[in-house]
Amino acid sequence: MTEVDELRESALKEIKNTKDLNDLQRVRSEYLGRKGKVTFLLKKIREIPPEERKEFGRKVNQLKEEVEELIKEREKELKEREIEEELEKEWEDLTIPPFRPVGSLHPITLTLRRILRIFTAMGFTVREGPEVELESYNFDMLNIPPDHPAREMQDTFYINKEGYLLRTHTSPVQIRTMLEEKPPIQMVAPGKVYRRDDDPTHSPMFHQVEGLVVSEDASFPQMKYTIETFLKEFFQQDLPVRLRTSYFPFTEPSAEVDIGCVICGQKGCRVCKETGWLEVMGCGMVHPQVLENCGIDSDLYQGFAFGMGVERLAMLYYRIDNIKIFYENDLRFLRQF
Ligand code: PHE
Repeated sequence: MTEVDELRESALKEIKNTKDLNDLQRVRSEYLGRKGKVTFLLKKIREIPPEERKEFGRKVNQLKEEVEELIKEREKELKEREIEEELEKEWEDLTIPPFRPVGSLHPITLTLRRILRIFTAMGFTVREGPEVELESYNFDMLNIPPDHPAREMQDTFYINKEGYLLRTHTSPVQIRTMLEEKPPIQMVAPGKVYRRDDDPTHSPMFHQVEGLVVSEDASFPQMKYTIETFLKEFFQQDLPVRLRTSYFPFTEPSAEVDIGCVICGQKGCRVCKETGWLEVMGCGMVHPQVLENCGIDSDLYQGFAFGMGVERLAMLYYRIDNIKIFYENDLRFLRQF
């Protein structure tokens, strides 16, 4: 009987001192395992003289239940402690001030966003197309025949894949849109374009925003009003705007848009080459053949389109005279925006 009491004592102590679940497993087999101390006593019941056997058996069985119960309780305790320790490790201080990004948006990003904000306010949706474009979308479908000067190697970056090139303008997004959507269409397409051009006002990569409206009643006056409204909003002044006749294979009639020089107020300066006018975009009524190329009935629908250079507008707006400065990432420049 004292053996049973002693065993209870030692089991209690050991269970209480276990430091983790592994340790508890060890104690469990030490007492309750096949060769465990309690199991040993259980087997011994048979050898006890009959008059003491019942009492001894009851005590040993009670001990077994007690030890099982204690282990179960300790197991629960240890599991809870493990979870708590895990939570403690993962604890985050939510009162620490948030990460504050250093730096600012690039002037081209700012200009692009401003342009898109004006057009979306006028009801235009925003469309994007790939920079590696099908030659047919960039040229053929836009009515630019294979012998057109714009196709010459000096202008276009061709790539090692037959039928593909780096788009030279955002106009192929017109084609993509008209192939995918039925009129009425009213979209703008921002993005990078590539040309073999390199001087203080031209960069081999630059950004354009294209505009396209196709509907039953799209008209030249609508186009002029849209462009004028945009330009006045963009430059935040009541600018003089004029259309000058021009030529693009994919529009007819075509025009170039000039604004009164924002640098000299039309007095004549280096930037406007003493003319008082600055050319800022191309535009025109979508050529009926281009509509037909995209499966749009040119007897029922008309369209107008325009395309502008984002760097050009940014240079005029911020009064920057060299396009290269946008791509040098000189912090003294970038910090001004
Ligand atoms: N895609 C022409 C260019 O890059 C601009 C343009 C767009 C002209 C739409 C007319 C209509 O020069």
